[in-house]
Amino acid sequence: MNIHGSVVSAREIVLSTEGVAAGYGGDDIISNISVAVGKGSIFTVIGPNGSGKSTFIKVLAGLLPARTGEIRLGAMSIARLSAPQRVAAGLAYVPQEFNIFTNLTVGENLRVSTEFLERERRASAEQRERVLAIFPEVAGRLGLRAGYLSGGQRQMLAFACAMMAAPTVLLLDEPSAGLSPKFVAEIFDKVKSVNAMGVTVVMIEQNVKEALRIADIVLVLVNGATRLLATPDDILTKHDLHKLYLG
Ligand SMILES: Nc1ncnc2c1ncn2[C@@H]1O[C@H](COP(=O)(O)OP(=O)(O)OP(=O)(O)O)[C@@H](O)[C@H]1O
Ligand SMILES: [Mg+2]
Repeated sequence: MNIHGSVVSAREIVLSTEGVAAGYGGDDIISNISVAVGKGSIFTVIGPNGSGKSTFIKVLAGLLPARTGEIRLGAMSIARLSAPQRVAAGLAYVPQEFNIFTNLTVGENLRVSTEFLERERRASAEQRERVLAIFPEVAGRLGLRAGYLSGGQRQMLAFACAMMAAPTVLLLDEPSAGLSPKFVAEIFDKVKSVNAMGVTVVMIEQNVKEALRIADIVLVLVNGATRLLATPDDILTKHDLHKLYLG
């Protein structure tokens, strides 16, 4: 049996953590986080504001070191790799905020998104075409300065930029935050279509109802610790989210 018992099906594990702790100053913000993300799944992290969701995803992305514990991408330990090395290994990340260059055009944003990678790992013409086909709203605005995009369009562009690196796992920090219901639905549709192409998704979400609809497994993080790891079905039928959030 694996660490999640029956929660994780027979899927191959593509990303996992074991006893991860991290923080910014003296105390750990998150501690003892152990998860296993199945290949091709949508793994969603929910929890109250300030519970450590972004901190956890930053540790996965390599922007904040894990103080203890292990992180694996497939069989490879990545805990000591830099953020660009992790992108090169197949782990792309879309931050919660400031995730595009507003002074550059949409096309330039796509181009610079893999500029930090070694030349041979940068987006190929084929990958660019693939990304533009998934994101027509981006493809139709290549010459526009990104600062003129709406909030929803910016999120789409940030999402598209991350896809330029052809990741096997995509980390999304609240992609639907602050968006109108129409854009929330569009972002979730996009997450689903990228996932349908075989990309594993780890996503933080505050739009819990919508998030549970597309998630395979949900981590409920409260006060930097795992409160529950369960399927959306179990959460909806056997648990009370309000009680869970109280810790
Ligand atoms: N750069 C930082 N330096 C110091 N403390 C930080 C930093 N970033 C976050 N924190 C603190 O870490 C805790 C967890 O923050 P984090 O951003 O991970 O929470 P979150 O669950 O993503 O919240 P939200 O739902 O508001 O996005 C908070 O107490 C926050 O103040
Ligand atoms: Mg956050």
